[in-house]
Amino acid sequence: MSAVLRAGVLGWPVSHSLSPRLHGHWLSQYNIDGSYEAVAVQPEDLAGALSGLADEGFRGVNLTVPHKQAALALVDKIDDAAQRIGAINTIVVEAGARLAGSNTDAFGFIENLRDHVPDQVANGWSGRPVAVLGAGGAARAVCTALLDCGVAEIRLVNRTAQRAASLVDTLPGMDRCAKIYTWVDGPDALADAGLLVNTTVLGMTGQAPLDLDLTRLPDDATVHDIVYAPLETDLLARARQRGNPTVDGLGMLLHQARPGFRAWFGVDPVVDDGLRRAVLAGL
Ligand code: ATR
Repeated sequence: MSAVLRAGVLGWPVSHSLSPRLHGHWLSQYNIDGSYEAVAVQPEDLAGALSGLADEGFRGVNLTVPHKQAALALVDKIDDAAQRIGAINTIVVEAGARLAGSNTDAFGFIENLRDHVPDQVANGWSGRPVAVLGAGGAARAVCTALLDCGVAEIRLVNRTAQRAASLVDTLPGMDRCAKIYTWVDGPDALADAGLLVNTTVLGMTGQAPLDLDLTRLPDDATVHDIVYAPLETDLLARARQRGNPTVDGLGMLLHQARPGFRAWFGVDPVVDDGLRRAVLAGL
């Protein structure tokens, strides 16, 4: 039997995933005798794939579209973040072939911001409101992290008000600090904000542009787009041109991968320029 430590990502489709490139870079950087594979798994085969992980020698896997929600019912335990976000992106095979599911997206989001604006993360944006565009799965992860930072007010801007209301109702702690805006009154949500985060697909390569008037956004507000293709979205370009500090989305992708790598391969890896370059080459 091979001694190679085995991990991977399950998705359908999975060929677009940057995770093999990301983990592959760390495996060679730390000289670890391990593998990280892209495994194409159709939705109807997810249960079988997960139950077979231990027998196939996997230490664990990442999950990507469309498996993140379905996996909740297929693992033996779920961490607090996965419970709150309602999705799993990382699985660790534990003793007795038990599967531990977690969600590292909130961690990745805040660790990336900590790299760029550590003081703002530490003081929870000093009581200033934070504006979040979108109310899907990514917004749930972002809001989970912001709640844990102790932000005073989260302004959720979403096309479909009902979806934003559902996020507020189902994410513990959101009701005490959330205000809901539609896309029409979205520009008002930016007044006095200390942070603006885009979690929608708008501005991504092949999607419609993000058309939001930034006039009311304070000049010192940090603007963060979790979209990383393109690396500088139109939102970030406009924010940079008006003098706002900007943070692109690649760092969130890189940081969310750290807990899985550490659990499977025993090293807490660093996110540095070499990793950024290696992953960017796959875009
Ligand atoms: P994810 O899990 O990546 O967050 P998602 O759950 O499909 O993806 O959420 C996508 C987000 O982008 C939603 O907030 C969606 O708004 P709706 O809730 O109104 O659907 C937003 N979005 C997608 N296309 C949009 C568009 N053309 N205009 C405005 N918002 C859009």
